[in-house]
Amino acid sequence: MSASPSRSDELPDDLEDAILRLKRERGAILLAHYYQESEIQDLADVVGDSLQLARAAQQADCEVIAFCGVHFMAETAKILNPGRTVVVPDLDAGCSLADGCPADLFEKFVAEHPGAKVVTYINTTAAVKAMSDLVCTSSNAVKMVRHFDGQPVIFAPDRHLARWVAKEADRPDLIVWQGICVVHEQFSAKRLAELRVQHPDAEVLAHPECDDAVLGQADYIGSTSGIIDRAVKSPAKTLIIATEDGVFHQIARRVPEKTLLQAPGPDESCACNRCPFMRLNTLEKLYLALRDLTPEVTVPEDIRVRALRPIEKMLSLSA
Ligand code: 13P
Ligand code: SF4
Repeated sequence: MSASPSRSDELPDDLEDAILRLKRERGAILLAHYYQESEIQDLADVVGDSLQLARAAQQADCEVIAFCGVHFMAETAKILNPGRTVVVPDLDAGCSLADGCPADLFEKFVAEHPGAKVVTYINTTAAVKAMSDLVCTSSNAVKMVRHFDGQPVIFAPDRHLARWVAKEADRPDLIVWQGICVVHEQFSAKRLAELRVQHPDAEVLAHPECDDAVLGQADYIGSTSGIIDRAVKSPAKTLIIATEDGVFHQIARRVPEKTLLQAPGPDESCACNRCPFMRLNTLEKLYLALRDLTPEVTVPEDIRVRALRPIEKMLSLSA
């Protein structure tokens, strides 16, 4: 359900101005993830990681939320704001983790482990969240798993994040759904090692969705906001970054003197640092979403009510 060419025939010359005008007219707040293109980040009221955006959505006091990110993020905003209109630039902006954990199969997986607490990464559908005891993001996953110390825990759907959390929380017994992120999965440990030889003073910052061989070379592991903060505070002048390169924009704004290198993919031709879902959102589609208040994100009320509990619990435990 992307914007049709006929709708985009009517675009104004100055899209940024038109978006800001529409935002005021609609009484809208614009939330954007760090993986959005720079022009979208610059227009947003809040730019953040998944947790920061969920918090911003929880505190929203407006008629419309325009969410520039992927579907599960906008869906979380809708779960927290049933009475507000939540629109996205492109309804097809999904996520390989959410898509790889369908609710019917996950229900069977949970049933195979009776008594286990269910902690799901926020990168899941509302229907999967509705089966969860607690939701987590990359910035609080270790803390959320520790909340269930002494009890069996299912962790889904990212297997790399799960391995890292299991180590950090000393929970080798985590019951793990074997999903992956198609972006972070691509980084090559071998080529990263070669790049580190060329830049021996560089610090390596990685997202926990990367595989173990990449994380094993990282000086810092954290969420997108954690990576940005570390890049700013680090004494290193050169940083090798293993996550989507949307984060470069905020780092370059705050420490323009630093050299930022992308962690390499398997070969030169791989555009691994770009999330194909996040990058479906464009200024043009954002303009049309605000103009027409479509595509709108909706969640069936019975699922919304059940999904709200583990999200609110996470937000209160992370306050
Ligand atoms: P963050 O919560 O760290 O921003 O991660 C979101 C995401 O989708 C990572 O790929
Ligand atoms: Fe999903 Fe990976 Fe894209 Fe993040 S980078 S939204 S986990 S596909």
